Amino acid sequence: MKIGPYTIDNPVFLAPMAGVTDQPFRHICQAMGAGLTTGEMQSSNPEVWDTDKSKARMDLTNERGIRSVQIAGCEPELLAQAAQFNVENGAQIIDINMGCPAKKVNKKLAGSALLQDPELVQRILRTVVNSVNVPVTLKIRTGWSPENRNGIEIAKIAEGEGIQALAIHGRTRECLFKGEAEYATIAAIKQKVSIPIIANGDITTAAKALTVKNFTGADAIMVGRGAQGNPWLIQEIVHLLRYGKMPAGPQLAEIADTVIQHVKDIHIFYGDQKGYRLARKHVSWYLNHIPDSKSYRRAFNAIEGATGQIDSLVEFFDKLLKEKSS
Ligand SMILES: Cc1cc2nc3c(=O)[nH]c(=O)nc-3n(C[C@H](O)[C@H](O)[C@H](O)COP(=O)(O)O)c2cc1C
Repeated sequence: MKIGPYTIDNPVFLAPMAGVTDQPFRHICQAMGAGLTTGEMQSSNPEVWDTDKSKARMDLTNERGIRSVQIAGCEPELLAQAAQFNVENGAQIIDINMGCPAKKVNKKLAGSALLQDPELVQRILRTVVNSVNVPVTLKIRTGWSPENRNGIEIAKIAEGEGIQALAIHGRTRECLFKGEAEYATIAAIKQKVSIPIIANGDITTAAKALTVKNFTGADAIMVGRGAQGNPWLIQEIVHLLRYGKMPAGPQLAEIADTVIQHVKDIHIFYGDQKGYRLARKHVSWYLNHIPDSKSYRRAFNAIEGATGQIDSLVEFFDKLLKEKSS
């Protein structure tokens, strides 16, 4: 699969998730074989670019994979400026967010709310595509509401405006995250356009990824929440799609190494003070996959400081490894 000049090794992508897919997590997922990882959405409003949050999101120094940056907004010119700014900053792909139902974005008719205005969608895509010399991709939902699944219309507009890949979350804007994702609309879109289609929504096992890929005919699969605390999901999907069988799950020692490295990377990327707070949610997600870890989670969350977190994780996993081998 190719996106513009970039050859994508594996058709398994990490979904952009604000507050989750920062550089440390992207690096973990890239190491698991993710073909493309997109960062957290960045507002197209330049007034917020100077905040610590935006600066961390824009930081592409040391980025290892293909640098895909997502922008969100509703004004074509502002989005184009944001795209240009990010390309100057090293972005190799610009992704436009029309898939997010978050209030903060939607207050300004952005994210998936834009799907109710195809004419504005067209203007945004045209303006952004014409403003940069890197591939522009788009992320949408299947439509505005279950009664208004206009994903096919939007996909055709996207193709016509030069969008180079389209990721589709199998829910409408109105569905938020409720119910189950549906893939029939994604399959229908795949039939109608020839740009690469990426299927997204509720893919939490490798078996489901294979089923969704076969059902939709999508060129790639995108995983979001399923990878939180379980980046091995990406490795498993890559393996299943490539060899037709499931790989062995990660050994405890590998889980320990990954968690500890991830937390160290968070401390380095954000600095110890901010980092130790942000590490908590990731550790909590990892612990969801480790039986009987409830009391440890509480203890971990009470630790104030980066060094304390690492010492504690080393001790926790050492104990688990000893118990396992005895
Ligand atoms: C915490 C969180 C943050 C998200 N932030 C973004 C975002 O910044 N941009 C975007 O396009 N989608 C965002 N999404 C939507 C995901 O990219 C994805 O489409 C959605 O979670 C469905 O995939 P999943 O079922 O594999 O999680 C976010 C989702 C979550 C749970």
